[in-house]
Amino acid sequence: MKYPRKLSSGANNTVIVLSETEVGKLYTDDTRSDIGSEATKMQFANAINSLVVRFSRLEYNEELSAEMLVMERIYPIDFRAYEVEIRELWFDVFVDELHQLHTAGFVHRDIQRPSNIAGLTFDNILLTPQGLRLIDVGISALRTQVGDAIFEKYVENEKKEIEEFKEYFLNR
Ligand SMILES: Nc1ncnc2c1ncn2[C@@H]1O[C@H](COP(=O)(O)OP(=O)(O)O)[C@@H](O)[C@H]1O
Ligand SMILES: [Mg+2]
Repeated sequence: MKYPRKLSSGANNTVIVLSETEVGKLYTDDTRSDIGSEATKMQFANAINSLVVRFSRLEYNEELSAEMLVMERIYPIDFRAYEVEIRELWFDVFVDELHQLHTAGFVHRDIQRPSNIAGLTFDNILLTPQGLRLIDVGISALRTQVGDAIFEKYVENEKKEIEEFKEYFLNR
């Protein structure tokens, strides 16, 4: 299906532009992700700090016959245009905020795309003039949902992915 004002087709969903300030992530029959769960996790993270993209609302888009998660629109910029000293500051804030989310019981789990899935490795991390932001909480997990043992495993893995991202973000 051809969508109007399409921004991107990610691994699972299509994201369309709604306005200058909002985008909608579409959930159609062929998507395997769960809109309710994604909304809940996004709101959980939003309550802790502003690292994860801000949730607006859930809507049913009649024209497209699709459920839609409406969120803040982010305008990413390219980190290669900024000196390493500035990137280091952005990275440090990013790590602090991510640790804050971990402490609160939220783990993103999709920092680094697995190499067997097509697409850019770190495309869920967007750089803005205000610093790094995270999108796509589709496979994120809450401690209250998965329990302590699984949550700790996820966090351990996320810390490795943060190191990979650091290498990429500061050295390219
Ligand atoms: N809030 C947003 N602002 C700007 N672009 C976005 C936003 N959310 C998603 N996108 C774009 O849409 C793509 C797919 O969205 P994402 O939530 O990562 O879905 P998927 O689960 O399909 O990877 C992203 O890689 C990004 O290019
Ligand atoms: Mg994604």
